[in-house]
Amino acid sequence: MAERVDPYEVEGKVDYNKLIKEFGVKKITPEMIKEIEKIAGEVHPYLKRGIFFAYRDLKEVLEEYKKGNKFFLYTGCGPSGPIHLGHIATWRFTKWLQDKFDVELWFQFTDDEKFLYKNMTYEEIAKWTHENMLDVIALGFNPKKTHFLIDTKHAGIIYPEAIKVAKKITFSSIKAAFGFNDSNNIGSIFYTAMQTVPVFLPNVLKKENRPCLIPMAIDQDPHFRLSRDVVEKIGHRKPAIIHSKFMTPITGNEGKMSSSNPDSAILMTDSPAEVKRKINKYAFSGGRDTAVEHRKLGGNVEIDVACQWLKYFEFDDKKLEKIYEDYKKGKLLSGEVKKVLIDKINEFLAIHQKKRKTAEKLIEKFIYKI
Ligand code: TYM
Repeated sequence: MAERVDPYEVEGKVDYNKLIKEFGVKKITPEMIKEIEKIAGEVHPYLKRGIFFAYRDLKEVLEEYKKGNKFFLYTGCGPSGPIHLGHIATWRFTKWLQDKFDVELWFQFTDDEKFLYKNMTYEEIAKWTHENMLDVIALGFNPKKTHFLIDTKHAGIIYPEAIKVAKKITFSSIKAAFGFNDSNNIGSIFYTAMQTVPVFLPNVLKKENRPCLIPMAIDQDPHFRLSRDVVEKIGHRKPAIIHSKFMTPITGNEGKMSSSNPDSAILMTDSPAEVKRKINKYAFSGGRDTAVEHRKLGGNVEIDVACQWLKYFEFDDKKLEKIYEDYKKGKLLSGEVKKVLIDKINEFLAIHQKKRKTAEKLIEKFIYKI
């Protein structure tokens, strides 16, 4: 299948090296990881394991941090369905950055975007905004340093800035970036301006001049390519970005995990039995046809979804390496690796679901007060 990577579609097997060239981003080098380790005191497994793999202007942001000017983090969520493990991977890393660098996070919920792009009512979107906020809070972000912006609720502060952005983006750039045509609604054409605003809004609100760092998966890059062209023209700094790869669907290595297909994704609200069912039934296996053959020839770690997903959950490098070695040698069967993964995910979800229950009480603390 032809490859396509943008905020609205990820199709085919993604070739990340090709994307680096096409998008004009840079690959994270071992030296940069060392640099981050020097400041943070440790390296997150997602960096070591190449899950976060590319960047724009990150070096400059780190240099400025060392000189005492902290950046702020900006990321977001389009609320149109349940949160899955792919979203969470991006946000777990964001939380690590917040903790280690002791910085503020601005988190945008783009209810306008989802209303404009999805066949859903505003009320349905509002329900998902609420549900998704609970998942973000459950991850343990610092309420004193985290500010939720909900596009329709914070329109009073976002819109005056969005029009300044919109005035500098032509319809032809939007068409080129997203493949739009005359049948796209006019709201979706404007939308990139809304996603651009938090790149500089904290500086406007606080009369500061801090760099902005955006952790996200690479599907969102087309929006920010446009943002980066525009913001300097209206007196603001270009945002730095750190890009992650996609967590794959359960069924294999093509495309990205997505809530639009619940059987391709593990949702944060899935029960232990549901996790077990989905992984046992759908997880693409790198194993052989029979156990006898597998024991003799070994399995393929690279295409085995359970092996790959363990990168997100087994943080102990030695344990992960041992699983990979045993699987390659045929000592471990696919079903056995799946069991390790199921237990790891269920352990993680049990904690998450408990925290999610108490998150409701915290919502008001997180929503930015105008
Ligand atoms: P949304 O809701 O599609 O996705 C939220 C975040 O999760 C990332 N993501 C994934 N990461 C790894 N594996 C996956 N399978 C996967 N699927 C999604 C996305 O890249 C994103 O970082 N328009 C945005 C909301 C937004 C935003 C932002 C995102 C507003 N401002 C700034 C990032 C940065 C959206 O609909 O995201």
